[in-house]
Amino acid sequence: MRVLSGIQPSGKLHIGNYFGAMQQFVEMQNQDAECFFFIADYHAMTSVQDPAQLRANVEEVALGYLAVGIDPEKSVFFPQSQVPAVTELTWALSCVCPMGLLQRCVSYKDKVEQGLAPNHGLFYYPVLQAADIIIYDSDIVPVGQDQKQHIEVTRDLAIKFNNIYGDVLTVPKASIRENTAVIPGLDGRKMSKSYDNTLELFTPQGPTKKKIMRIPTDSTPMEDPKDPDACTVFTLLKLFADEAEQQHWRKRYTEGGMGYGEVKKRLFELSNETLDPFRARYEELKKDMDYVRDVLNEGGKKARAAADVVMERVRSAVGLR
Ligand code: TYM
Repeated sequence: MRVLSGIQPSGKLHIGNYFGAMQQFVEMQNQDAECFFFIADYHAMTSVQDPAQLRANVEEVALGYLAVGIDPEKSVFFPQSQVPAVTELTWALSCVCPMGLLQRCVSYKDKVEQGLAPNHGLFYYPVLQAADIIIYDSDIVPVGQDQKQHIEVTRDLAIKFNNIYGDVLTVPKASIRENTAVIPGLDGRKMSKSYDNTLELFTPQGPTKKKIMRIPTDSTPMEDPKDPDACTVFTLLKLFADEAEQQHWRKRYTEGGMGYGEVKKRLFELSNETLDPFRARYEELKKDMDYVRDVLNEGGKKARAAADVVMERVRSAVGLR
């Protein structure tokens, strides 16, 4: 079984990326799967158009993957752009892609609604994502809920291509975990860099504590019962707490007499248990960027070799050989 996923280098990684996607990556890597994980630098060009910034973002995400436990001995780990053939496959898929399929893509519509002037890259983005997945014969794509539609587009394109050219491409499936499909941000909307509502993975304790203590809550008086399921603090606490601790806080909410300051403080402590080892490893790796670059180059070589196999099949199927 082949697993593949990617993350855009468009800013700092946050706990939405971790619980929605990266936690699955690490688990799958440590099971019996053949894993490919990459940094989607071609995708980031749709929004990051400062070359120094793009380079810095790629290094930031590379550190992030390694700090949460991606092991280059077990997974093929690389920047997307080290496999330029992916843009060639994008073209082949584009030629079987109906315009309507892309016009219906929510991520494109959302960005346009947010006031971003759409470039063609942004519109065409899901075809590049399909090529990312298909070029490694991927079976499973671990992602958060917001990527579901893109994986459906990928499946559609693989099936359309196969209908025309025969059984050439592997049709992948998304792996989305019910409890962590959409991690809420500090304001209760989906956690996202573009909403500025994130808890970052590697930011030190001090600023993280400030953010947690400022999470908006309702104005129920301290002595009254509160609804844990309507509270962002409780939703975030569930990510870090074991079952017994979750039950304890559920009871504290519903029986009343609990102030939000108390549960926020506990959320901060619990988050440190998960995030402190990531922060330490991130700081450690940052001191050896040459190692990180070597890892990416080695991963690039392995990824190119795997992509070549599929591209030869594709070229031959369409009549370019
Ligand atoms: P990106 O960089 O926006 O996000 C990376 C991963 O994090 C997940 N995620 C979340 N999950 C739950 N709750 C949240 N609040 C949350 N925020 C982010 C995303 O679902 C994603 O899994 N287009 C992709 C990158 C990409 C890709 C691919 C992914 C390019 N090619 C091929 C898979 C396969 C993206 O922008 O993800």
